[in-house]
Amino acid sequence: MSAPQDTKQVILETKDIVKQFPRVLANNDVNITLHEGEILSLLGENGAGKSTLMNVLYGLYTPTSGKILLNGQEVQFNSPKDAIDLGLGMVHQHFMLLDPFTVTENIILGSEPGKRGTIDYKQARREVKEISEKYNLKIDPDAPIETLSVGLQQRVEILKALYRRAKILILDEPTAVLTPQEVDELFEVIRDLRNSGVSVIIITHKLEEVMAISDRVYILRGGEVVGERNTSDTDKTDLANLMVGREVVLTVEKEDKQAGDTPILTIEDLRVLNLKNFPAIDGLSLDVKPGEIVGIAGVDGNGQTELAEALMGLLSVDSGKITHLGDDITHMGTKELIGRSISYVPSDRHRFGLILPMTIGENIMLGYHDRKPYVRGIQLNYKYINSHAEELVEAYDIRTPDVQNPAEKLSGGNQQKVILARELSREPTFLLVSQPTRGLDVGAIEYIHKQILAMRDRNVAILLISLELEEIFALSDRIEVLYEGKIVKEFDPKKTSHKEVGYYMTGGKE
Ligand SMILES: Nc1ncnc2c1ncn2[C@@H]1O[C@H](COP(=O)(O)OP(=O)(O)O)[C@@H](O)[C@H]1O
Ligand SMILES: [Mg+2]
Repeated sequence: MSAPQDTKQVILETKDIVKQFPRVLANNDVNITLHEGEILSLLGENGAGKSTLMNVLYGLYTPTSGKILLNGQEVQFNSPKDAIDLGLGMVHQHFMLLDPFTVTENIILGSEPGKRGTIDYKQARREVKEISEKYNLKIDPDAPIETLSVGLQQRVEILKALYRRAKILILDEPTAVLTPQEVDELFEVIRDLRNSGVSVIIITHKLEEVMAISDRVYILRGGEVVGERNTSDTDKTDLANLMVGREVVLTVEKEDKQAGDTPILTIEDLRVLNLKNFPAIDGLSLDVKPGEIVGIAGVDGNGQTELAEALMGLLSVDSGKITHLGDDITHMGTKELIGRSISYVPSDRHRFGLILPMTIGENIMLGYHDRKPYVRGIQLNYKYINSHAEELVEAYDIRTPDVQNPAEKLSGGNQQKVILARELSREPTFLLVSQPTRGLDVGAIEYIHKQILAMRDRNVAILLISLELEEIFALSDRIEVLYEGKIVKEFDPKKTSHKEVGYYMTGGKE
């Protein structure tokens, strides 16, 4: 099948780009082309070299070797200013805006006054307004940055690039910070840009986004381009296999299962104050039955952390009641909770999940260090600790030379598997999992999802907190939407959509 962009002009091209960092070869002979008016995705797992390549294109990094051609001419960018002057714009993962200043001020600030003559605020303001209207960005030129949502701030960054006459726009993981609605709106903007001749490079590690927005995609792995596809000729499985380098099962096989009748865990009218004495959980009620996964969907900062910490005795409960297997556990400490067949996979695996300098064996023992057979007399029983860890390393496919290896030497995915091995092997009745796959690659995600489902099949009551709606939908038997510390809506995942759930996540009402 011939792609429409075959006939279009190549505007940007890299030739054998190599970027060697002191210890990492981040880009290895990368060749990509970008056509006029094209939406191009760069897909790859964490560390594949996507941001590095874009930073080379934008003049932030000097390539170790290789060339950049713009409209067929070799160019050398010594700084982003050179790239901007030749029509490139980039929106970084972290925005570079100054909070107290207005949109227009922020946009002028970055520009060179000399080139456009003295900067006339009124003129700039008018131009900002025009661009905003042209691309339906809905940005008020006079709004102070700090009053804008993350999604709008991102559009200010886009506007800034357009104000500087960008013909090529690079967006580095732009959807990571957005709600589903905002993603849709951003994609509309990107399509409008393409239709008026701007070429867009969008970086993502999400397959559905590649399929939804791009005309063509390059897949990067280990610093190299391992594939190129027209999106009309590929699908998510093909892309995932290229991205990971082996066959990946994308859809978790989840059979219907009848949950038990009597809840294992019940939360009634819970109120939890955060560290600023603000009610982060404010009248939340919920129950979790054996053999079901209840998914808490919500935008970050709506009480997820406080809910998890209150359940685990890490944050005190202001009012309300938590019951586990008929007992009131509202004010129990963490240690006591761990002793009651409650398991916890925390979202911050470095703060709560692992003690990094300790060995894998010791991390697997954590919390049980005063129990037999981990301890014998007053001494830790290392023989048992290590042989038990070896069994789990095998069972959970943790990639490590041995169990003496400190946790800090493992990759994120393997660290997460250590926590999972510890928490799941303790035969919990209730399992709290918070963001279990954050920052992990597709392969590790697949594995962890399977393990969580296996616990459900063994009748564990599971509460899943995740900011990834994909994950909530893939695993949950019931979805509860958390907004401003309360459950505002319940859904059957089979009878709803991302959009509908997203609507309630952002404060939408019936
Ligand atoms: N400034 C840097 N110095 C040293 N290593 C870096 C630097 N930036 C990135 N890397 C390394 O280069 C590799 C590619 O990183 P990056 O381009 O950020 O990947 P991606 O954006 O695909 O997640 C990673 O191993 C990363 O640790
Ligand atoms: Mg990156």
